[in-house]
Amino acid sequence: MKEKIHVPPIKIQGIKTKLVPLIKDNIIMDKEMLWVEPFMGSGVVGFNIRPQQAIFADTNPHIINFYNNIKQKNIDSYIVRNFLESEGDKLEKGDDEYYYEVRERFNKNHSSLDFLFLNRSCFNGMIRFNKNYKFNVPYGHKPQRFSKAYITKIVNQVKYVEQMLCISDWNFICQSFDNTINSIQEERAFIYCDPPYIGRNVDYYDSWSEDEETKLKKMLISNNNYFMLSTWDHNKYRKNEYVDTLWGFCKKINKEHFYYVGANENNRNSIVEALLINY
Ligand SMILES: C[S@@+](CC[C@H](N)C(=O)[O-])C[C@H]1O[C@@H](n2cnc3c(N)ncnc32)[C@H](O)[C@@H]1O
Repeated sequence: MKEKIHVPPIKIQGIKTKLVPLIKDNIIMDKEMLWVEPFMGSGVVGFNIRPQQAIFADTNPHIINFYNNIKQKNIDSYIVRNFLESEGDKLEKGDDEYYYEVRERFNKNHSSLDFLFLNRSCFNGMIRFNKNYKFNVPYGHKPQRFSKAYITKIVNQVKYVEQMLCISDWNFICQSFDNTINSIQEERAFIYCDPPYIGRNVDYYDSWSEDEETKLKKMLISNNNYFMLSTWDHNKYRKNEYVDTLWGFCKKINKEHFYYVGANENNRNSIVEALLINY
């Protein structure tokens, strides 16, 4: 029987839900090891690996705050249900106008509940900010955006994280990948990296360039733990040259993948993914 993949409450373009089984089959992990995910995004990979100890990090403070609020019990599935029911009603009445009111409110107050609301009602579940770090994804029109069934689905996604936090030692830290990797020098760790894809449009929270990719490689090599890096290998138009140049020393596992989330047409085409490993 196929194992259930738990989808997290916060979505992001480039989410690896479909690649979780392949990633799971190819990692080297035991109960004593620390799982380190310097580019957590939605967190779907680590959340399904279910490590006993983990560091989930990202430079997007809203993702990190959301999970820290669950961890600190400022937010729970009950609060999420009430919030989405009442905000969903207002959205039903106010339509676009209400969505943009919440977006403006979020850009001033940075509430985690508003972040969840926007993430689950915006266009294609994107996370995108402008140069001034203002969330700028438009409304994703849909009748009955927050239907009962949709709210229950989100609530169950929050419940899964709550349950995992009761039985595991997971830490959520807002920091750049270099600080995350630097902080794990002593332990036995497995580092799973899924940075923005080099050479493709990147629209997350921070930009990504060759300098960063090179720095990431150097840090992973000097860290001396097992690592796996997700990147793109090729599509029908072009090839990711960095796979052979920068990452040529790694073993490569390929899989064709189709991205559903994302406004950009590039993200919707089929792409051959590469999992690069150092073992
Ligand atoms: C491809 S997404 C990760 C997707 C994730 N694996 C998933 O399945 O949902 C890349 C993430 O890297 C984060 N990011 C970008 N630059 C970063 C940096 N310098 N350090 C840490 N995180 C960064 C972005 O905010 C984004 O969440």
